[in-house]
Amino acid sequence: MSSGNINKKLVFVISAVAATGGLLFGFDTGVISGALLFLKEDFLLDSQGQEWVVSSVLLGCILGAAVSGRLVDVLGRRKAIIGTALVFAVGSIWTSAADAFSMLVAGRVVVGLGIGVASYAVPLYISEIAPPQHRGALVSLNQLLLTVGIVLSYLVDDLFANTAGSWRYMFLAGVIPALVLGVGMFFLPETPSWLAGKGRDAEAIGILNRIMPGPEAEIELAAIQQAVPESPVSSVKQLRAPWLRPALLIGIGIMFVQQATGINTVIYYAPTIFEVAGFQSATTAITATVGVGLVNVLMTMVAIWLVDKVGRKPLLSYGLIGMTVSLSGLALGFQFQAEIGGSLKWMAVGMLFLYIGSFAISVGPIAWLLIAEIYPLEVRGFAMSLATLSNWVFNFIVSFTFLTLFDTIGKAGTFWLYAGVGVLGWFFCHLYVPETKGVSLETIEKNLRAGARPKDLGSTS
Ligand code: BGC
Repeated sequence: MSSGNINKKLVFVISAVAATGGLLFGFDTGVISGALLFLKEDFLLDSQGQEWVVSSVLLGCILGAAVSGRLVDVLGRRKAIIGTALVFAVGSIWTSAADAFSMLVAGRVVVGLGIGVASYAVPLYISEIAPPQHRGALVSLNQLLLTVGIVLSYLVDDLFANTAGSWRYMFLAGVIPALVLGVGMFFLPETPSWLAGKGRDAEAIGILNRIMPGPEAEIELAAIQQAVPESPVSSVKQLRAPWLRPALLIGIGIMFVQQATGINTVIYYAPTIFEVAGFQSATTAITATVGVGLVNVLMTMVAIWLVDKVGRKPLLSYGLIGMTVSLSGLALGFQFQAEIGGSLKWMAVGMLFLYIGSFAISVGPIAWLLIAEIYPLEVRGFAMSLATLSNWVFNFIVSFTFLTLFDTIGKAGTFWLYAGVGVLGWFFCHLYVPETKGVSLETIEKNLRAGARPKDLGSTS
């Protein structure tokens, strides 16, 4: 999308409705923490059983991202998103009705299938609708609603905690964001890029005329047509093309940095971290966790405000510095726990707030944004699903090694490890990640095809 005469209100409404896909992702990320306490009792789950309940959703996400690369290319972005909302709703009802452990786990896999697809189909959809000068902010609305979804899920958990059959209502509440997304998307258009890629130019121009009334619509269509592939459906073979490698490297690399700096150990285990740092009561630990969720939301808003002004790279740089400093602070705190004593818990609160705030202005939203920007139309759906798949695989590995790492290399060692990844991540971003602020997707694609270095993919000269 170029930067002509844009109907900003329409583009914002379209992006905001699609971004409710982030709510699904966030809601499910958070809801399990509260539900687990009750599932444990009702299904008599040992720790392995609990791990299954938590991890089955990640397995579903991996599966969803892996099998659906073609889906968004063949069905279109819009229909794929409507489908995921439906799958998520079915999974929510299924889990809420579970009366056997196997049914519960199977239902969680179904929920994961929906999230796995939504997690990349929504940023993809918005990036193809948004004009370059607002693309960063609009795509990041998805991450904002994700963080809101996490906080909402804590509140839902709280609301039903004292109701009989509590976890059933917690899971069932997931139907609401799924309905909002499914019904909302029903009224939204398909993206002009996808339509033009399928030779449906008349429909593409109809939508472009609504988004950018005036002669710009025709110019935009011509720019998209230039980028339209010869073969309409992407394949694994195409992903092997050498000129695509820089983009694949950036996508998988940024997802590694996002996950291996330990974000989900904080999201999933914040109360545990607060408890081991010295908070005696679970209630205080949970209140501090809600605080972490709120800082996540607020700093994502700051990212949205800044991402198209200062660009992606400065945010990545400062954010990764903040994350590395706070992780090192936590590591030092645990290393000198005996000397620090009671102050450790306050240090943990300060460090985790700094950590989540730094994540939220940098790799949180920007990893998802970058993968929606750097792939050529020809393989966009497929390549994004690959980067998304790597995100879920890294998430899975990090979340399920966290407590084991605590026991083997110790608390300090664990946080030093994540801090080390933070340093590597900073160099990776500095050396390989391009600045894509205000650059059209077609220009990024032209650079990629011309063999530009990863760092220079956003160059306009
Ligand atoms: C990450 C998730 C994480 C969330 C926290 C997302 O960008 O992909 O793994 O749970 O941010 O806000």
